[in-house]
Amino acid sequence: MTAQRDQFSSRLGFILVAAGSAVGLGNIWRFPFLVGDGGGAAFVMVYLVFSFLIGFPIMVAEIAIGRKSHRDPVGAFKVLGFPQWSFIGMLGVISGIIILSFYNVVAGWAFGYFLEMLEGHFDVGGQFSEFVKDWVRVGAYAIIFMATTAFIVSNGVSRGIERAAKVLMPALVLLITALTVYAMTLPNAMEGVRFYLVPDFSKLTPNVLYQGMGQAFFSLSLGMGALITLGSYTSHKDNIIGAAAAITLADVGIAFIAGLMMFPFVFSQHLPPTGGAGLIFATLPGVFGALPGILGVVVGALFFLLLSFAALTSTVSLMEVPASYLVDERGMNRKVAVWGLAAFIFVLGIPSLLGNGALDVFTRFITLPGHEEPTSFMDLMGFIASDTFLPLGGFLVAWFTIRVWKRHNFDTEMTTGDEIARGSWLQTYINFSITYIIPVVLATMVIITILDRFFGISIMG
Ligand code: TRP
Repeated sequence: MTAQRDQFSSRLGFILVAAGSAVGLGNIWRFPFLVGDGGGAAFVMVYLVFSFLIGFPIMVAEIAIGRKSHRDPVGAFKVLGFPQWSFIGMLGVISGIIILSFYNVVAGWAFGYFLEMLEGHFDVGGQFSEFVKDWVRVGAYAIIFMATTAFIVSNGVSRGIERAAKVLMPALVLLITALTVYAMTLPNAMEGVRFYLVPDFSKLTPNVLYQGMGQAFFSLSLGMGALITLGSYTSHKDNIIGAAAAITLADVGIAFIAGLMMFPFVFSQHLPPTGGAGLIFATLPGVFGALPGILGVVVGALFFLLLSFAALTSTVSLMEVPASYLVDERGMNRKVAVWGLAAFIFVLGIPSLLGNGALDVFTRFITLPGHEEPTSFMDLMGFIASDTFLPLGGFLVAWFTIRVWKRHNFDTEMTTGDEIARGSWLQTYINFSITYIIPVVLATMVIITILDRFFGISIMG
């Protein structure tokens, strides 16, 4: 059954595709705006701690489950002998569908901004709210994006994207690094750096903890079986711990640089950091427009083009989870499954599409407990799927790995193909985190959040 399953062409191929999944709008769009809304450096710290302490070990567990079973996230648990745990995979399939529904809308914005930059429309920064209100146009971009994703996924694990990622991801890193250096030269830049790096601990609220945790899972593509799926295409020659370390470092590093670039830009233009989901779209065009001559068009278009590409490698991995479920478990034809999903998920994304100003019901959708302002439909989806389902999925994976699948099986799998890791401190650390840290921290998070949201009791700040 697994004999003719697709495999990555090389070790680096897996790392590139997994890093391509991890690096996306989460790093460059979502991370900076959550930092801005969450009061700056305090949020950054929470995010970093969750990424390394909890995210990295869960990533190792997901890849190990995927490689051992060579199946989709639902089937993986059955193959390992625990069919009653396949509900974890089902939760992942649902999370993936929800996340993709709004992620695709934002990817469409990034693509639209690429076109705007090409035409030299730098004032589109100040007109972000007009831009997203134009639902016909933004909807067309979203359709283009979804169709491109479906096209790639329907053709299987694609070599093309591996090859493109090899060039385009480093290009994105170079570009944001150069922009960060430039940002430091602008007036008021240091105020931005201070906001980003010097923590104000009074900002460490339960909400910041919750969103920082969710962002760590979201950015690393964890908690919904995306890495079980990608891991299922790896071979026993691959080195799981090393790959997970490389992916985590790349993903966190890119988010960190993106933040370091963004806040000097924000403060030098005297914009409020609390711009919400529009932060990068409102901030960056003005920066590009101020560059001399044609440089603004070139850099601006390149930036949003590379961002669109980074988003595409992520939408592909998001789509891959429900698609591989329908193909592996339901025996559906891959093309039918993928195009059906694309249509369904696009429709599910329509309230997110309309919920950024075009239609008031979706823009001011619901007032969550503990919040004063109503939350948009899109933010609600982020809250449910990214900030709640992903950590829940990660917790269940950790629990399953140690208490059901059992530690010795996990130990064997995570070190197969990796002589150096066997018995190393890193292996000890991963086991310790999965066995103790993750259950304790996540249980504490649940308690803090429930007390805060529903009873108004804050044991912090
Ligand atoms: N990590 C991606 C980003 O930061 C988004 C993403 C892709 C994702 N695949 C995922 C998030 C799977 C959670 C699960 O943009």
